[in-house]
Amino acid sequence: MSFFEYRDGQLFAEQTSLSSIAAEHGTPCYVYSRAAFETQWKALDSAFGDHPHTICYAVKANSNIAVLNLLARLGSGFDIVSEGELRRVLKAGGDPSKVVFSGVAKSKSELAFAMQNKVRSINIESVAELERVQEVAASLNVTASIAFRVNPNVDPETHPYISTGMDKAKFGVTMEAAFDAYKRATELTNIEVHGIACHIGSQITKTSPFTDALKIVLDMVKRLADEGIKIKQLDLGGGLGIDYHGETPPSPSDYVQSMINGMKDHGINLPIAIEPGRYIAGNSGVMLTQIEFLKHNKNKNFAIVDAGMNDLLRPALYQAFHVIKPVEQRSRQAAKIFDVVGPVCESACVLGYDRELAVEAGDLLAVMSAGAYGFVMANNYNSRNKPAEIMVDSTQAHLVRKRETFDQLISGEVLLAAD
Ligand code: LLP
Repeated sequence: MSFFEYRDGQLFAEQTSLSSIAAEHGTPCYVYSRAAFETQWKALDSAFGDHPHTICYAVKANSNIAVLNLLARLGSGFDIVSEGELRRVLKAGGDPSKVVFSGVAKSKSELAFAMQNKVRSINIESVAELERVQEVAASLNVTASIAFRVNPNVDPETHPYISTGMDKAKFGVTMEAAFDAYKRATELTNIEVHGIACHIGSQITKTSPFTDALKIVLDMVKRLADEGIKIKQLDLGGGLGIDYHGETPPSPSDYVQSMINGMKDHGINLPIAIEPGRYIAGNSGVMLTQIEFLKHNKNKNFAIVDAGMNDLLRPALYQAFHVIKPVEQRSRQAAKIFDVVGPVCESACVLGYDRELAVEAGDLLAVMSAGAYGFVMANNYNSRNKPAEIMVDSTQAHLVRKRETFDQLISGEVLLAAD
Protein backbone atom coordinates (compact mmCIF):
# COMPACT_ATOMS: atom_id res chain seq x y z
CA MET A 1 0.00 0.00 0.00
CA SER A 2 2.36 2.63 -1.18
CA PHE A 3 0.05 5.58 -0.41
CA PHE A 4 -0.12 4.62 3.28
CA GLU A 5 3.48 4.48 4.53
CA TYR A 6 5.45 5.19 7.69
CA ARG A 7 7.63 8.28 7.86
CA ASP A 8 9.83 8.60 10.91
CA GLY A 9 7.64 6.16 12.77
CA GLN A 10 4.35 7.89 11.88
CA LEU A 11 1.83 6.41 9.46
CA PHE A 12 0.88 8.77 6.65
CA ALA A 13 -1.77 8.89 3.95
CA GLU A 14 0.10 10.51 1.07
CA GLN A 15 1.66 13.64 2.65
CA THR A 16 -0.74 13.81 5.59
CA SER A 17 -0.18 12.11 8.94
CA LEU A 18 -3.03 9.94 10.13
CA SER A 19 -2.63 11.27 13.66
CA SER A 20 -3.33 14.80 12.42
CA ILE A 21 -6.50 13.53 10.75
CA ALA A 22 -7.62 11.80 13.95
CA ALA A 23 -6.91 14.99 15.93
CA GLU A 24 -9.03 17.06 13.53
CA HIS A 25 -11.87 14.69 12.69
CA GLY A 26 -11.96 12.18 15.54
CA THR A 27 -12.23 8.41 15.35
CA PRO A 28 -13.45 6.05 14.07
CA CYS A 29 -13.14 7.36 10.54
CA TYR A 30 -12.27 6.16 7.08
CA VAL A 31 -9.32 7.80 5.35
CA TYR A 32 -8.92 7.53 1.58
CA SER A 33 -6.09 8.46 -0.75
CA ARG A 34 -7.07 10.27 -3.91
CA ALA A 35 -3.81 9.25 -5.61
CA ALA A 36 -4.44 5.59 -4.75
CA PHE A 37 -7.92 5.60 -6.31
CA GLU A 38 -6.63 7.32 -9.42
CA THR A 39 -3.57 5.09 -9.75
CA GLN A 40 -5.63 1.91 -9.50
CA TRP A 41 -8.20 3.12 -12.03
CA LYS A 42 -5.51 4.22 -14.48
CA ALA A 43 -3.63 0.90 -14.12
CA LEU A 44 -6.69 -0.97 -15.35
CA ASP A 45 -7.52 1.58 -18.00
CA SER A 46 -4.04 1.60 -19.51
CA ALA A 47 -3.84 -2.21 -19.44
CA PHE A 48 -6.40 -2.20 -22.27
CA GLY A 49 -4.13 -0.17 -24.56
CA ASP A 50 -6.04 0.50 -27.78
CA HIS A 51 -8.69 -2.11 -27.16
CA PRO A 52 -12.13 -0.45 -26.89
CA HIS A 53 -13.25 -0.72 -23.29
CA THR A 54 -15.20 0.85 -20.44
CA ILE A 55 -14.18 0.62 -16.81
CA CYS A 56 -17.52 0.48 -14.99
CA TYR A 57 -16.44 1.03 -11.37
CA ALA A 58 -18.66 -1.04 -9.05
CA VAL A 59 -20.27 1.69 -6.97
CA LYS A 60 -21.15 -0.73 -4.20
CA ALA A 61 -17.49 -1.03 -3.19
CA ASN A 62 -17.28 2.61 -2.08
CA SER A 63 -20.08 4.92 -3.06
CA ASN A 64 -19.01 8.22 -1.50
CA ILE A 65 -19.85 10.86 -4.10
CA ALA A 66 -16.36 12.37 -3.80
CA VAL A 67 -14.92 9.01 -4.88
CA LEU A 68 -17.41 8.70 -7.74
CA ASN A 69 -16.67 12.24 -8.83
CA LEU A 70 -12.91 11.64 -8.98
CA LEU A 71 -13.44 8.54 -11.09
CA ALA A 72 -15.99 10.28 -13.33
CA ARG A 73 -13.39 12.98 -13.96
CA LEU A 74 -11.06 10.26 -15.24
CA GLY A 75 -13.78 9.12 -17.65
CA SER A 76 -14.99 6.13 -15.67
CA GLY A 77 -18.23 4.32 -16.25
CA PHE A 78 -20.13 2.75 -13.35
CA ASP A 79 -21.74 -0.53 -12.39
CA ILE A 80 -24.81 0.12 -10.26
CA VAL A 81 -27.23 -2.16 -8.43
CA SER A 82 -29.93 0.25 -7.28
CA GLU A 83 -31.64 3.54 -8.02
CA GLY A 84 -29.75 5.01 -5.09
CA GLU A 85 -26.43 4.14 -6.68
CA LEU A 86 -27.54 5.66 -10.00
CA ARG A 87 -28.59 8.83 -8.19
CA ARG A 88 -25.14 8.98 -6.59
CA VAL A 89 -23.46 8.56 -9.99
CA LEU A 90 -25.56 11.37 -11.48
CA LYS A 91 -24.91 13.60 -8.47
CA ALA A 92 -21.18 12.98 -8.89
CA GLY A 93 -21.24 13.97 -12.57
CA GLY A 94 -21.02 10.43 -13.97
CA ASP A 95 -22.13 9.71 -17.52
CA PRO A 96 -25.23 7.45 -17.60
CA SER A 97 -24.31 6.25 -21.08
CA LYS A 98 -21.40 4.45 -19.41
CA VAL A 99 -23.55 2.85 -16.71
CA VAL A 100 -24.45 -0.83 -16.48
CA PHE A 101 -27.24 -1.84 -14.12
CA SER A 102 -26.81 -5.21 -12.37
CA GLY A 103 -28.87 -6.94 -9.68
CA VAL A 104 -31.29 -9.84 -9.28
CA ALA A 105 -34.38 -7.89 -8.23
CA LYS A 106 -34.61 -4.48 -9.82
CA SER A 107 -37.97 -2.93 -9.05
CA LYS A 108 -40.20 -1.41 -11.72
CA SER A 109 -39.51 2.09 -10.49
CA GLU A 110 -35.75 1.47 -10.46
CA LEU A 111 -35.92 0.16 -14.01
CA ALA A 112 -37.96 3.17 -15.10
CA PHE A 113 -35.47 5.57 -13.52
CA ALA A 114 -32.58 3.81 -15.27
CA MET A 115 -34.36 3.90 -18.64
CA GLN A 116 -35.30 7.56 -18.27
CA ASN A 117 -31.64 8.27 -17.67
CA LYS A 118 -30.61 6.16 -20.67
CA VAL A 119 -28.13 3.81 -19.02
CA ARG A 120 -26.00 1.80 -21.43
CA SER A 121 -27.17 -1.62 -20.37
CA ILE A 122 -29.65 -3.21 -18.03
CA ASN A 123 -28.04 -6.50 -17.11
CA ILE A 124 -30.98 -8.87 -16.81
CA GLU A 125 -30.78 -11.85 -14.49
CA SER A 126 -33.89 -13.89 -15.37
CA VAL A 127 -36.53 -14.30 -18.07
CA ALA A 128 -39.12 -12.96 -15.65
CA GLU A 129 -37.02 -9.81 -15.35
CA LEU A 130 -36.86 -9.55 -19.17
CA GLU A 131 -40.64 -9.46 -19.27
CA ARG A 132 -40.64 -6.76 -16.56
CA VAL A 133 -38.11 -4.67 -18.48
CA GLN A 134 -40.27 -4.96 -21.61
CA GLU A 135 -43.35 -3.90 -19.66
CA VAL A 136 -41.64 -0.86 -18.13
CA ALA A 137 -40.01 0.16 -21.44
CA ALA A 138 -43.35 -0.12 -23.24
CA SER A 139 -45.07 2.00 -20.60
CA LEU A 140 -42.43 4.70 -21.08
CA ASN A 141 -42.42 4.24 -24.84
CA VAL A 142 -38.65 3.74 -24.90
CA THR A 143 -36.31 0.98 -26.02
CA ALA A 144 -34.31 -0.65 -23.24
CA SER A 145 -30.75 -1.61 -24.04
CA ILE A 146 -30.04 -4.93 -22.33
CA ALA A 147 -27.57 -7.69 -21.68
CA PHE A 148 -28.19 -10.99 -19.96
CA ARG A 149 -25.99 -11.72 -17.04
CA VAL A 150 -25.18 -15.35 -17.61
CA ASN A 151 -23.99 -17.78 -14.99
CA PRO A 152 -21.15 -19.89 -16.42
CA ASN A 153 -20.97 -22.23 -13.38
CA VAL A 154 -17.28 -21.57 -12.74
CA ASP A 155 -15.75 -21.79 -9.27
CA PRO A 156 -13.99 -18.49 -8.51
CA GLU A 157 -12.16 -20.18 -5.60
CA THR A 158 -13.01 -17.43 -3.14
CA HIS A 159 -15.12 -17.05 0.01
CA PRO A 160 -18.56 -18.70 -0.48
CA TYR A 161 -20.40 -15.47 0.44
CA ILE A 162 -18.72 -13.67 -2.45
CA SER A 163 -18.91 -16.40 -5.12
CA THR A 164 -21.65 -15.63 -7.54
CA GLY A 165 -21.05 -17.60 -10.73
CA MET A 166 -21.92 -21.14 -9.72
CA ASP A 167 -25.06 -23.19 -10.32
CA LYS A 168 -26.17 -22.90 -6.72
CA ALA A 169 -25.98 -19.08 -6.75
CA LYS A 170 -29.08 -16.90 -7.15
CA PHE A 171 -27.29 -14.81 -9.78
CA GLY A 172 -27.61 -14.77 -13.54
CA VAL A 173 -29.27 -16.89 -16.19
CA THR A 174 -27.92 -20.43 -16.61
CA MET A 175 -26.10 -21.19 -19.85
CA GLU A 176 -28.86 -23.65 -20.69
CA ALA A 177 -31.52 -20.94 -20.44
CA ALA A 178 -29.51 -18.05 -21.91
CA PHE A 179 -29.93 -18.90 -25.58
CA ASP A 180 -33.71 -19.02 -25.40
CA ALA A 181 -33.73 -15.89 -23.25
CA TYR A 182 -31.89 -13.98 -26.00
CA LYS A 183 -34.28 -15.35 -28.61
CA ARG A 184 -37.21 -14.19 -26.52
CA ALA A 185 -35.58 -10.75 -26.16
CA THR A 186 -35.44 -10.35 -29.93
CA GLU A 187 -39.21 -10.91 -30.11
CA LEU A 188 -39.95 -8.04 -27.74
CA THR A 189 -40.79 -4.65 -29.19
CA ASN A 190 -39.09 -2.43 -26.62
CA ILE A 191 -35.89 -4.40 -26.07
CA GLU A 192 -32.59 -3.99 -27.84
CA VAL A 193 -29.92 -6.60 -27.22
CA HIS A 194 -26.70 -4.80 -26.40
CA GLY A 195 -24.39 -7.27 -24.75
CA ILE A 196 -23.63 -10.23 -22.59
CA ALA A 197 -22.48 -9.97 -18.98
CA CYS A 198 -20.94 -12.26 -16.43
CA HIS A 199 -19.63 -11.77 -12.88
CA ILE A 200 -18.39 -14.88 -11.13
CA GLY A 201 -17.31 -13.57 -7.74
CA SER A 202 -15.06 -11.25 -5.82
CA GLN A 203 -11.50 -11.23 -4.45
CA ILE A 204 -10.38 -13.64 -7.16
CA THR A 205 -6.63 -14.14 -7.03
CA LYS A 206 -6.03 -16.32 -10.13
CA THR A 207 -6.53 -15.74 -13.84
CA SER A 208 -8.00 -19.17 -14.59
CA PRO A 209 -11.55 -18.65 -13.23
CA PHE A 210 -11.84 -15.52 -15.39
CA THR A 211 -10.56 -17.26 -18.53
CA ASP A 212 -12.72 -20.36 -17.90
CA ALA A 213 -15.80 -18.14 -17.62
CA LEU A 214 -14.77 -16.13 -20.67
CA LYS A 215 -14.59 -19.26 -22.86
CA ILE A 216 -18.11 -20.24 -21.89
CA VAL A 217 -19.42 -16.74 -22.53
CA LEU A 218 -17.67 -16.56 -25.92
CA ASP A 219 -19.17 -19.90 -26.96
CA MET A 220 -22.55 -18.32 -26.28
CA VAL A 221 -21.62 -15.20 -28.30
CA LYS A 222 -20.84 -17.48 -31.27
CA ARG A 223 -24.03 -19.45 -30.89
CA LEU A 224 -26.01 -16.23 -30.80
CA ALA A 225 -24.19 -14.83 -33.82
CA ASP A 226 -25.12 -18.00 -35.76
CA GLU A 227 -28.72 -17.21 -34.90
CA GLY A 228 -28.31 -13.62 -36.13
CA ILE A 229 -28.20 -12.12 -32.62
CA LYS A 230 -25.38 -9.62 -32.49
CA ILE A 231 -23.58 -8.92 -29.22
CA LYS A 232 -22.00 -5.45 -29.09
CA GLN A 233 -20.28 -5.51 -25.70
CA LEU A 234 -18.72 -8.16 -23.53
CA ASP A 235 -19.15 -7.24 -19.85
CA LEU A 236 -16.84 -9.42 -17.80
CA GLY A 237 -17.86 -8.19 -14.37
CA GLY A 238 -15.58 -7.36 -11.49
CA GLY A 239 -13.78 -9.63 -9.09
CA LEU A 240 -10.09 -8.88 -9.47
CA GLY A 241 -8.59 -9.49 -6.04
CA ILE A 242 -6.17 -7.39 -4.03
CA ASP A 243 -3.33 -7.98 -1.60
CA TYR A 244 -4.83 -7.86 1.89
CA HIS A 245 -2.18 -9.99 3.52
CA GLY A 246 0.21 -11.60 1.06
CA GLU A 247 -2.25 -12.61 -1.67
CA THR A 248 -0.79 -12.40 -5.19
CA PRO A 249 -3.63 -11.59 -7.58
CA PRO A 250 -2.98 -11.20 -11.31
CA SER A 251 -1.62 -7.83 -12.41
CA PRO A 252 -3.99 -5.59 -14.38
CA SER A 253 -2.08 -6.36 -17.57
CA ASP A 254 -2.19 -10.14 -17.04
CA TYR A 255 -5.88 -9.91 -16.22
CA VAL A 256 -6.74 -7.75 -19.22
CA GLN A 257 -4.44 -9.58 -21.64
CA SER A 258 -6.01 -12.89 -20.69
CA MET A 259 -9.37 -11.48 -21.78
CA ILE A 260 -8.10 -10.02 -25.02
CA ASN A 261 -6.20 -13.24 -25.86
CA GLY A 262 -9.24 -15.35 -24.97
CA MET A 263 -11.27 -13.37 -27.49
CA LYS A 264 -8.58 -13.73 -30.16
CA ASP A 265 -8.54 -17.51 -29.62
CA HIS A 266 -12.28 -17.50 -30.33
CA GLY A 267 -11.92 -15.26 -33.39
CA ILE A 268 -14.04 -12.63 -31.64
CA ASN A 269 -13.24 -8.95 -31.23
CA LEU A 270 -15.66 -6.98 -29.09
CA PRO A 271 -15.46 -3.92 -26.85
CA ILE A 272 -15.02 -4.99 -23.24
CA ALA A 273 -16.58 -3.58 -20.09
CA ILE A 274 -15.36 -4.58 -16.65
CA GLU A 275 -16.89 -3.82 -13.25
CA PRO A 276 -14.02 -3.58 -10.78
CA GLY A 277 -14.80 -2.42 -7.27
CA ARG A 278 -12.32 -3.82 -4.79
CA TYR A 279 -9.31 -3.47 -7.12
CA ILE A 280 -9.86 0.29 -7.31
CA ALA A 281 -11.03 1.01 -3.77
CA GLY A 282 -9.69 -1.71 -1.47
CA ASN A 283 -6.17 -0.53 -0.87
CA SER A 284 -7.13 3.11 -1.35
CA GLY A 285 -8.44 3.48 2.18
CA VAL A 286 -7.89 2.62 5.83
CA MET A 287 -10.09 2.82 8.88
CA LEU A 288 -8.67 4.78 11.79
CA THR A 289 -9.59 3.80 15.31
CA GLN A 290 -8.37 4.62 18.79
CA ILE A 291 -7.63 2.19 21.62
CA GLU A 292 -10.00 2.86 24.51
CA PHE A 293 -8.57 0.29 26.92
CA LEU A 294 -6.12 -2.55 27.11
CA LYS A 295 -7.59 -5.48 28.97
CA HIS A 296 -6.13 -8.75 30.13
CA ASN A 297 -8.36 -11.75 30.71
CA LYS A 298 -7.07 -15.13 31.76
CA ASN A 299 -5.26 -16.11 28.59
CA LYS A 300 -5.84 -13.15 26.33
CA ASN A 301 -4.85 -9.57 25.82
CA PHE A 302 -7.46 -7.34 24.29
CA ALA A 303 -7.00 -4.00 22.62
CA ILE A 304 -10.51 -2.56 22.89
CA VAL A 305 -10.98 0.06 20.20
CA ASP A 306 -13.65 2.62 19.37
CA ALA A 307 -14.57 1.03 16.01
CA GLY A 308 -16.77 -2.01 15.89
CA MET A 309 -18.36 -4.51 13.55
CA ASN A 310 -20.93 -1.85 12.71
CA ASP A 311 -18.14 0.33 11.31
CA LEU A 312 -16.22 -2.43 9.49
CA LEU A 313 -18.22 -5.61 9.07
CA ARG A 314 -15.87 -7.67 6.91
CA PRO A 315 -13.94 -9.48 9.67
CA ALA A 316 -17.17 -10.50 11.44
CA LEU A 317 -19.07 -11.45 8.31
CA TYR A 318 -16.39 -13.14 6.19
CA GLN A 319 -13.61 -13.80 8.70
CA ALA A 320 -11.74 -11.34 6.50
CA PHE A 321 -8.17 -10.53 7.50
CA HIS A 322 -7.20 -6.86 7.59
CA VAL A 323 -3.68 -5.93 8.63
CA ILE A 324 -3.78 -3.62 11.67
CA LYS A 325 -0.96 -1.13 12.14
CA PRO A 326 -0.18 1.30 14.93
CA VAL A 327 -0.28 4.87 13.65
CA GLU A 328 2.71 5.70 15.80
CA GLN A 329 5.39 3.02 16.00
CA ARG A 330 6.67 2.14 19.46
CA SER A 331 9.58 -0.09 20.40
CA ARG A 332 8.90 -3.65 19.28
CA GLN A 333 10.17 -4.87 22.65
CA ALA A 334 6.88 -3.82 24.18
CA ALA A 335 4.89 -5.93 21.68
CA LYS A 336 2.30 -8.43 22.88
CA ILE A 337 -0.32 -10.54 21.16
CA PHE A 338 -3.74 -8.88 21.17
CA ASP A 339 -7.21 -9.51 19.90
CA VAL A 340 -8.33 -6.16 18.55
CA VAL A 341 -11.99 -5.93 19.51
CA GLY A 342 -14.70 -3.31 19.24
CA PRO A 343 -17.41 -2.03 21.57
CA VAL A 344 -20.45 -3.80 20.06
CA CYS A 345 -22.16 -6.33 22.32
CA GLU A 346 -21.40 -9.37 20.19
CA SER A 347 -18.50 -11.80 20.43
CA ALA A 348 -18.13 -11.39 16.66
CA CYS A 349 -17.23 -7.72 17.14
CA VAL A 350 -13.56 -8.34 16.43
CA LEU A 351 -11.35 -6.51 13.93
CA GLY A 352 -8.43 -8.91 14.19
CA TYR A 353 -7.33 -11.93 16.20
CA ASP A 354 -3.85 -12.57 17.60
CA ARG A 355 -2.09 -9.44 16.38
CA GLU A 356 1.37 -8.61 17.59
CA LEU A 357 1.26 -4.97 18.58
CA ALA A 358 3.29 -2.59 20.71
CA VAL A 359 0.51 -0.30 21.91
CA GLU A 360 -0.93 1.55 24.87
CA ALA A 361 -4.40 2.84 25.64
CA GLY A 362 -5.06 6.01 23.67
CA ASP A 363 -2.96 4.88 20.70
CA LEU A 364 -4.36 5.06 17.19
CA LEU A 365 -4.58 2.01 14.95
CA ALA A 366 -5.08 1.87 11.19
CA VAL A 367 -7.08 -1.04 9.85
CA MET A 368 -5.60 -1.41 6.40
CA SER A 369 -7.22 -2.24 3.04
CA ALA A 370 -10.57 -0.89 4.19
CA GLY A 371 -11.40 1.29 1.18
CA ALA A 372 -13.75 -1.28 -0.40
CA TYR A 373 -16.81 -2.72 1.34
CA GLY A 374 -15.89 -0.74 4.44
CA PHE A 375 -17.99 2.36 5.00
CA VAL A 376 -20.66 1.11 2.56
CA MET A 377 -21.40 -1.83 4.85
CA ALA A 378 -21.34 0.26 8.03
CA ASN A 379 -24.60 0.25 9.95
CA ASN A 380 -26.16 1.63 13.11
CA TYR A 381 -26.22 -1.52 15.24
CA ASN A 382 -26.09 -0.64 18.94
CA SER A 383 -27.28 2.86 17.90
CA ARG A 384 -23.78 3.75 16.89
CA ASN A 385 -23.52 6.59 14.43
CA LYS A 386 -21.73 6.03 11.15
CA PRO A 387 -18.11 7.17 10.99
CA ALA A 388 -16.73 10.14 9.07
CA GLU A 389 -14.96 9.76 5.72
CA ILE A 390 -11.91 11.80 4.78
CA MET A 391 -10.23 12.03 1.37
CA VAL A 392 -6.56 12.90 1.47
CA ASP A 393 -5.12 14.72 -1.50
CA SER A 394 -1.41 15.19 -0.87
CA THR A 395 -1.19 17.51 2.17
CA GLN A 396 -4.94 18.24 2.28
CA ALA A 397 -7.47 16.18 4.22
CA HIS A 398 -11.00 16.83 2.92
CA LEU A 399 -13.95 15.75 5.02
CA VAL A 400 -16.10 14.02 2.39
CA ARG A 401 -18.74 12.75 4.78
CA LYS A 402 -19.40 14.16 8.20
CA ARG A 403 -19.75 11.83 11.14
CA GLU A 404 -23.41 11.00 11.59
CA THR A 405 -25.15 12.81 14.44
CA PHE A 406 -27.67 11.42 16.91
CA ASP A 407 -30.42 13.51 15.29
CA GLN A 408 -29.65 11.97 11.91
CA LEU A 409 -29.57 8.55 13.51
CA ILE A 410 -33.16 8.80 14.73
CA SER A 411 -34.51 11.00 11.96
CA GLY A 412 -37.55 9.26 10.55
CA GLU A 413 -38.45 7.63 13.86
CA VAL A 414 -41.66 8.83 15.53
CA LEU A 415 -43.38 8.41 18.88
CA LEU A 416 -46.94 7.21 19.16
CA ALA A 417 -49.34 9.97 20.12
CA ALA A 418 -49.76 10.31 23.90
CA ASP A 419 -52.63 8.26 25.44
N1 LLP B 1 -20.21 -6.58 -10.53
C1 LLP B 1 -21.17 -7.28 -9.88
C2 LLP B 1 -22.36 -7.69 -10.60
C3 LLP B 1 -20.99 -7.58 -8.52
O1 LLP B 1 -21.92 -8.29 -7.88
C4 LLP B 1 -19.82 -7.14 -7.84
C5 LLP B 1 -19.62 -7.43 -6.43
C6 LLP B 1 -18.87 -6.41 -8.58
C7 LLP B 1 -19.10 -6.16 -9.92
C8 LLP B 1 -17.62 -5.88 -7.96
O2 LLP B 1 -16.78 -6.91 -7.54
P1 LLP B 1 -15.28 -6.58 -7.05
O3 LLP B 1 -14.50 -6.08 -8.26
O4 LLP B 1 -15.37 -5.56 -6.01
O5 LLP B 1 -14.78 -7.88 -6.56
N2 LLP B 1 -18.95 -7.32 0.55
C9 LLP B 1 -18.04 -8.31 0.01
C10 LLP B 1 -17.92 -8.24 -1.49
C11 LLP B 1 -19.25 -8.41 -2.20
C12 LLP B 1 -19.13 -8.30 -3.68
C13 LLP B 1 -20.46 -8.28 -4.31
N3 LLP B 1 -20.45 -8.08 -5.73
C14 LLP B 1 -16.68 -8.12 0.68
O6 LLP B 1 -16.56 -7.29 1.57
O7 LLP B 1 -15.75 -8.85 0.38
